[in-house]
Amino acid sequence: MKTYSIALIPGDGIGRDVTAAAWSVLQTVAQMTGFTLEGKEFPWSCRFYSDTGRMMPEDGIETLRGFDAILLGAVGWPAEVPDSVSLHGLLLPIRKAFVQYANIRPHRLLPGVEGPLKAEKFDILCIRENTEGEYSGAGGRVHQGMDNEVAVETAIFTRAGVERILRFGFEQARLRRRKLASVTKSNAQKFSMVFWDEITDKLAADYPDVDVTSYHVDALAARMVMAPDSLDVIVASNLFGDILTDIGAAIQGGLGFAASANINPDRSAPSMFEPVHGSAPDIAHLGIANPIAAVWSGALMLEHLGEREAATLIMQAIQAVTKGGVGTIPGRDKTDAITNAILAALS
Ligand code: NAD
Ligand code: IPM
Ligand code: MN
Repeated sequence: MKTYSIALIPGDGIGRDVTAAAWSVLQTVAQMTGFTLEGKEFPWSCRFYSDTGRMMPEDGIETLRGFDAILLGAVGWPAEVPDSVSLHGLLLPIRKAFVQYANIRPHRLLPGVEGPLKAEKFDILCIRENTEGEYSGAGGRVHQGMDNEVAVETAIFTRAGVERILRFGFEQARLRRRKLASVTKSNAQKFSMVFWDEITDKLAADYPDVDVTSYHVDALAARMVMAPDSLDVIVASNLFGDILTDIGAAIQGGLGFAASANINPDRSAPSMFEPVHGSAPDIAHLGIANPIAAVWSGALMLEHLGEREAATLIMQAIQAVTKGGVGTIPGRDKTDAITNAILAALS
């Protein structure tokens, strides 16, 4: 029987609850369709940092490299560890080290979920550059605490990095409705975003069958709210993509529904699957986190591993559950009740 090794990093807060939920659903479909998922859990988190002074051990990346995929909950517990320390100690280094340059985030309304918009139907796939741009980590501070203190954080855009994410976007558009929205801000950012636009225009010649439009990020943010059904695939830089995908989550009914996949398209290292949301400290001990985003992320993992049938079963179960009104209203149903409903829909 085919066996996949999965590194589980539940992380902090609701990350723990939703990862447990996703794992139980994944185990069930694996059994149903005939493959094995061998999970190994790593306690890397803000608690681990408090105990050891690190978010993960020094050889953490090398430890993860041997797995077929990584399933992550959420990282961050700002009351104890500054976010700039926890995220730069675990989540962000994994995305970079494993060249997970394509962060894929689907946004659509599940049946039975009433989003905040009038639009009933939209199906957006946001593709976010995940290794460079505004998240490059290049910068520094001098004269700290003094009146003349300076903080510099430089966005870095490389030709190779921009080309590969745009190409990925064009390819995804080809698999869908052949419409690509390239997110820019070249009216204000006259170096990096003009560069982005130039590469978009150059690549467009290779994809004459894809209808590509460049939108300024502010206008695209408004379009996601006013006319989400006019969008198909969106491709954006790291920070623009981060912000737009929280809008995407909002229009699909909330962060509890937004799934994500950090993909290494060359498969030279493991890819990582995690919900868009964070550790939600405000609801962390209440048992009401919606596990659907994490379960959906698990389905994206199975798709990446080539287990299409199992992925489809998960999506059908999620849709049956929300259609029946379970998990559709944030905060109303318990995490366990939603998970059990998904498990019941599978059997
Ligand atoms: P958040 O996504 O954790 O929460 C934002 C709001 O959405 C909160 O009101 C929360 O209760 C709600 N929410 C989120 N997920 C939910 C779910 N599954 N079900 C129901 N409600 C849900 O964002 P934040 O408050 O800005 O960040 C909290 C911490 O998480 C910070 O430390 C932040 O850095 C971290 N964070 C981590 C990740 C990640 O690991 N991928 C992503 C985002 C934020
Ligand atoms: C996300 C998160 C992360 C990001 C944070 C926690 C660093 O918001 O995955 O959307 O900005 O990439
Ligand atoms: Mn985000």
